[in-house]
Amino acid sequence: MGDASRDVVRADGITKIYSDPDGRPLPVLKDVSLTVGRGEFVAIVGPSGSGKSTLLYALSGLEPVDGGSVEVAGKRVDTLSRAALAKLRRDEVGVIFQTYNLIGSLTARENIALPAILAHRALSASAVDEALADVGLSDRGDHRPRELSGGQQQRVAIARVLAAKPQVVFADEPTGALDELASAKVLELLHSAATADRSVVLVTHDLEAAATADRVLVLRDGEIHRQLANPSARAVLDAVTEAGQLS
Ligand SMILES: Nc1ncnc2c1ncn2[C@@H]1O[C@H](COP(=O)(O)OP(=O)(O)O)[C@@H](O)[C@H]1O
Ligand SMILES: [Mg+2]
Repeated sequence: MGDASRDVVRADGITKIYSDPDGRPLPVLKDVSLTVGRGEFVAIVGPSGSGKSTLLYALSGLEPVDGGSVEVAGKRVDTLSRAALAKLRRDEVGVIFQTYNLIGSLTARENIALPAILAHRALSASAVDEALADVGLSDRGDHRPRELSGGQQQRVAIARVLAAKPQVVFADEPTGALDELASAKVLELLHSAATADRSVVLVTHDLEAAATADRVLVLRDGEIHRQLANPSARAVLDAVTEAGQLS
């Protein structure tokens, strides 16, 4: 925390209110404040329904907040115009989902190049090659998603995000559908994505994966219940268990 110029993400007192099935207000984020430093790897854990995905989407500008402020790469996400927000999301923010979100009719190479094409920018063939190599899929560029394993599809999704060289990558349960080996590979790639000038925010159920982060935020019922720096897997488990029992 502290030095604002070192923070890629700053959220101050954000609130998000959905409606429950009866139309009553359902506060999902309650006064959440956090920072993510440049190059920092932050994990978010917490019981199901505690607001992890909502928080991630609020930070990435995918979901508007109802109160508070969100700053990403020095820009106020909550007050930007639609066009400026779209540009910020395209240039500085990467998002990775549990379901990969690749286009089934396009090859791995085409999926990686697509965001640049949609932004009317060129992504050179060698940049695509490099992105494929970075995720260990140099020999799979011409495969379509259905010809790839789940782990390989997620690695294509990571390559697609990293090719845009974002300042921060948000990942929502990116290993939720993967076996142990594929999960380990994805986690390793996310760690190498977090560098001096790129940060990673990972939402995960995998407490051992969370324990590899620089910092772990434990959410409970829409609030940050605990923040743990360089915790052991045991410490993460204890904090999540406590949050689950309290919620
Ligand atoms: N679009 C939505 N409309 C109404 N309620 C929602 C919506 N998205 C999430 N919620 C509710 O917000 C709460 C937090 O959801 P979520 O952020 O997905 O939690 P988590 O990712 O921790 O499981 C849950 O009670 C969920 O039902
Ligand atoms: Mg979720």
